[in-house]
Amino acid sequence: MWNPDTYMKFSGLRTRPALELASRCRPVGDGLIYDLGCGPGNSTQVLASLFPKAHITGIDSSPEMLARAAEEGPEGVTWLQGDLNNWTAPEPAELIFSNALYNWLPNHDRLFPRLLGHLKEGGQLAIQMPTNFDAPSHVLMRETVENSPYRDRLSSILRHGIVRPMPEYYDIFAPIAASVDIWETDYAQILEGDDPVFNWVSGTALRPIMAALDNHEQKAFAVDYKAALNEAYPKRPDGKTLFPFKRIFMVVGV
Ligand SMILES: C[S@@+](CC[C@H](N)C(=O)[O-])C[C@H]1O[C@@H](n2cnc3c(N)ncnc32)[C@H](O)[C@@H]1O
Repeated sequence: MWNPDTYMKFSGLRTRPALELASRCRPVGDGLIYDLGCGPGNSTQVLASLFPKAHITGIDSSPEMLARAAEEGPEGVTWLQGDLNNWTAPEPAELIFSNALYNWLPNHDRLFPRLLGHLKEGGQLAIQMPTNFDAPSHVLMRETVENSPYRDRLSSILRHGIVRPMPEYYDIFAPIAASVDIWETDYAQILEGDDPVFNWVSGTALRPIMAALDNHEQKAFAVDYKAALNEAYPKRPDGKTLFPFKRIFMVVGV
């Protein structure tokens, strides 16, 4: 289950890549945009602001996230619940946009070419995904799982290798696209307060792990994981925590 409150505690840092991705897309005019994995509507808000005349549909599988999107997201958007693993566009679009969804869905070599097939001629596919699976935050999560008494239950839940190295995306798109623009950004994220990296991953990567544990187990897991994180990401002299975070972006035209 996704929790919009936990996720949006870091709304500025989570939405910034959506803005940077959208600002590399051509204007859409009054065309059709799909925001895949729209979550609580923050990425949709970016699209509505940059492309005010566009017809936007936000799609997500989480009823909690969609309820928040309908409440606080931009007006005039169509919100739809659906699983994006096997999504087919009802109508071809000018822009298919997705910020921080496809790191959850494997098989990009199958999924991404299919998305191009849902674009109008001259349309664009724009995708952003975290590429931080080898960062200490994720390595330590895997190690804490391995060292825990629940490792058999948890190890099948851990995700690894979903986001592929940059050249593989070039090889997927280059033979079938009119243009390919791929880049990576390493953000020096500055977090505040105690256990900030734990709080960050609680809104995303840690969710499936915690969901598989009971209350008592969750507490024990959190103690071990927080201790490891706080050693890997010590507070700076100003009391804040640097949490470097790498993301890959791609804008592909047809
Ligand atoms: C990290 S949030 C991204 C939210 C927003 N796009 C943003 O820019 O912050 C990922 C979203 O993907 C959705 N999601 C995950 N797997 C999905 C699936 N198979 N089908 C549809 N949505 C999915 C989740 O419900 C969640 O709202």
